[in-house]
Amino acid sequence: MFLWVHYADMVIALVQLPVAVVAWWAATGRPSRTSAVAFAMLLGAAVLRLAAGLVLLRWGWEFAGLRLVWVAPALLAAATAHLVWLRPTGRPGRAGAVAGAAGIVSVAAMAQLAGVGAAAVTGVAIVAASAMTYAYRRLPRRPVPAGAGRWRAAVRAAVGVVAVTAATLGLSMASALPARSSMSGGAMDDGGGAVAGHQHSGGISVTELTGADGGDAAVRRFTLTAQAATVRLDSGAQVAAWTFNGVAPGPQLVVRQGDLVEVTLVNRLPGVGVTVHWHGVDVPNAMDGVAGVTQDAVAPGATFVYRFRASRASTYWYHSHEMASVQVRRGLFGALVVLPRDAPAQQDAVDETVLRHTWGDEDGVATLGLAAGAQRRSVPAGRPVRLRLVNSDGKPATFTVTGAPVRVVAIDGTDVHEPGVLPGVRILVGGGARYDVEFTMPDAPVTLRADGPGIVYSPRGDAGPGRAAAEPALLDPARYGTPTATPFAAGSHFDRRFVLRIDERIGFYDGRPAVRYTLNDASFPDVPMLMVTDGDLVEVAYVNRSGQHHPMHLHGHHMLVLSRDGRATTGSPWWVDTLDIAPGETFRVAFRADNPGLWMDHCHDLEHAANGMILHLGYTGVTSPFLTGPGTANHPE
Ligand code: C2O
Ligand code: CU
Repeated sequence: MFLWVHYADMVIALVQLPVAVVAWWAATGRPSRTSAVAFAMLLGAAVLRLAAGLVLLRWGWEFAGLRLVWVAPALLAAATAHLVWLRPTGRPGRAGAVAGAAGIVSVAAMAQLAGVGAAAVTGVAIVAASAMTYAYRRLPRRPVPAGAGRWRAAVRAAVGVVAVTAATLGLSMASALPARSSMSGGAMDDGGGAVAGHQHSGGISVTELTGADGGDAAVRRFTLTAQAATVRLDSGAQVAAWTFNGVAPGPQLVVRQGDLVEVTLVNRLPGVGVTVHWHGVDVPNAMDGVAGVTQDAVAPGATFVYRFRASRASTYWYHSHEMASVQVRRGLFGALVVLPRDAPAQQDAVDETVLRHTWGDEDGVATLGLAAGAQRRSVPAGRPVRLRLVNSDGKPATFTVTGAPVRVVAIDGTDVHEPGVLPGVRILVGGGARYDVEFTMPDAPVTLRADGPGIVYSPRGDAGPGRAAAEPALLDPARYGTPTATPFAAGSHFDRRFVLRIDERIGFYDGRPAVRYTLNDASFPDVPMLMVTDGDLVEVAYVNRSGQHHPMHLHGHHMLVLSRDGRATTGSPWWVDTLDIAPGETFRVAFRADNPGLWMDHCHDLEHAANGMILHLGYTGVTSPFLTGPGTANHPE
């Protein structure tokens, strides 16, 4: 229902623009049936958008407000002005020109309100359009020789074409990214707390935020070499991949809780930089691996050493954070598993990480690892099995496990408190998220399906995918498991509260046409940075007013989900680092600002991020010497 209203409203908004142009055209000429129809359509659009606003009230004022307060009334006013001043039988006059200009002004104002293009460009367009209208009306009115009507029509057409072209070019140019931008500058949002402010000199550089030294922790060393390689899918198809160590997905790194992990990144890719980001691990800021924010992209031939402590046992993954939308897709990612410190090694336990990845492009081949088909595994009855489900794509994927009673034991690197036994489970795993599932192998097949590819576990390893069993119920993490104490809760006093409204716009990003998902009406690097001070308790509301899922990923922190659509969570504390937000959903989350640095907060649908769906969380007094932008070697998105 939400999607229906959302897209219907969007279509009306899109139709509005050409209709307004026609209305302007008609207003500057002789009243005609065209002008009457155009005005009627403007009026109709106003009524429909008003209706859409009323329906959307069901999702809350955040969804309906813009339409009710601005869009529909503005349109209604413009259409009424036209109708009153330009009766279809009347004569064209200055009033017509004024009405035409009023129409353009209101449309431009709406476009601006809707976040289409920079205010400056819109302003120029308004002035230019009004001036042209006025000039046209002043054309000499001496007796017209035969043929002059055509001449006038040609002038009007030319003016229209020039205006539309200029506006389009202007919007495109205004969207160009600055050649260099620094995360130590730009607009800020204090979230209602004390003014934090950027520090331009002095302060602490992100490069100093390397964490405490290892002490006596065991050091686990790995080398990840980024290199091109051809990998083969189970279908036989070859993929020209970018890999770590020649394999895709990259090697699985397994460490014990408490270990000091030291990873040397070596770049042997031809002509492109690379980094490694430890997705879901709350590393010290200098180790976060974001090109242009916490380090420079590692150039071909160069190396970089990451060092951090694996303090929480769970499932994580790692991936490049330079040109991430391209590099992750091409294979620069892998799993990181942190085993519990003192859990007895269960010799016979099966522990498998299942990485779902789509090769090629968004509509490419979906696989588990490199297998698009159904894989078979042999697991003797009675064995404990843990499946670590990871979605490395941006779009959510549905995983189902059937054939044995299961428990969902961890989400995004945090154990679920008292996970109940389910007869089978269906989980919507958002982009970048992880869910760990456990079961005891029965004397019959257990099937894992992941929207296409799958794995069948059976005692002899010979069972194929049988007929799909009845779909198990969808897991609702807001109501699964039982509550337990948390360091803060919905009723806590928050030092700062932020609201992030997500919208869908058709426009330009970095000079090219793009569907943009904006955060508070802006795109990277213009989204105000969320400013905090070390120790703050922070609440963030994510309001998804767009028609797409957005897996919002905050680096360096775990967020406790407080409520969804106004309803408090009732199950186990639900901690996330990547929260999938469906169209129409509103989430409230909270976190303790206890890891100083400059941290990305972005959509993990990396195509969305590449179109500007990125902002940052900044701590007072922290600066970065690194720069991003087309004029640098750093492109974190
Ligand atoms: Cu998994 Cu900012 O990324
Ligand atoms: Cu998104």
